[in-house]
Amino acid sequence: MMKLNVNGATHEVDVDPTTPLLYVLRNDLKLNAAKFGCGLGQCGACTVMVDGKAVFSCLTPVMLIEGRQVKTVEGLGTIDKPGPMQVAFMEEQAAQCGYCIAGMMMRAQSILEANPGATDAEIRAGMEPNLCRCGTHMRILSAVSKARELMKLASAAPAANE
Ligand code: FES
Repeated sequence: MMKLNVNGATHEVDVDPTTPLLYVLRNDLKLNAAKFGCGLGQCGACTVMVDGKAVFSCLTPVMLIEGRQVKTVEGLGTIDKPGPMQVAFMEEQAAQCGYCIAGMMMRAQSILEANPGATDAEIRAGMEPNLCRCGTHMRILSAVSKARELMKLASAAPAANE
């Protein structure tokens, strides 16, 4: 039995320790946002965050995850209360088929959590490992730039109310 912390909640899972994190998220925890694309670390559809860093969950054995904090796109907000990243992707209509989008959002979230003032060029370079087969990269980049501004507003809001 392994204990995993995902989106702030602790889960116990009975799986082979070499099972990819992606399979555990999807099959055992029913968190289906992260997708299987290539299984080879080449597309980014499976991207989630582990201890604040973007990782390919298709290549990450779950035994490496115990004691670490996993965040998936389900942890960024809800349908009723979407987080800034999700709002930005919706407002910029960044998805076409949508298959890559959860991975795109988690890559973008990791970039902006590490560097809230990331420039557009830094965002572009940081997003490079994630691919969109529909070709909506320009809208995705616009969404991440918008998310940067929304996240700044969200972090400034409590101070403004003091
Ligand atoms: Fe993990 Fe493609 S499915 S990188």
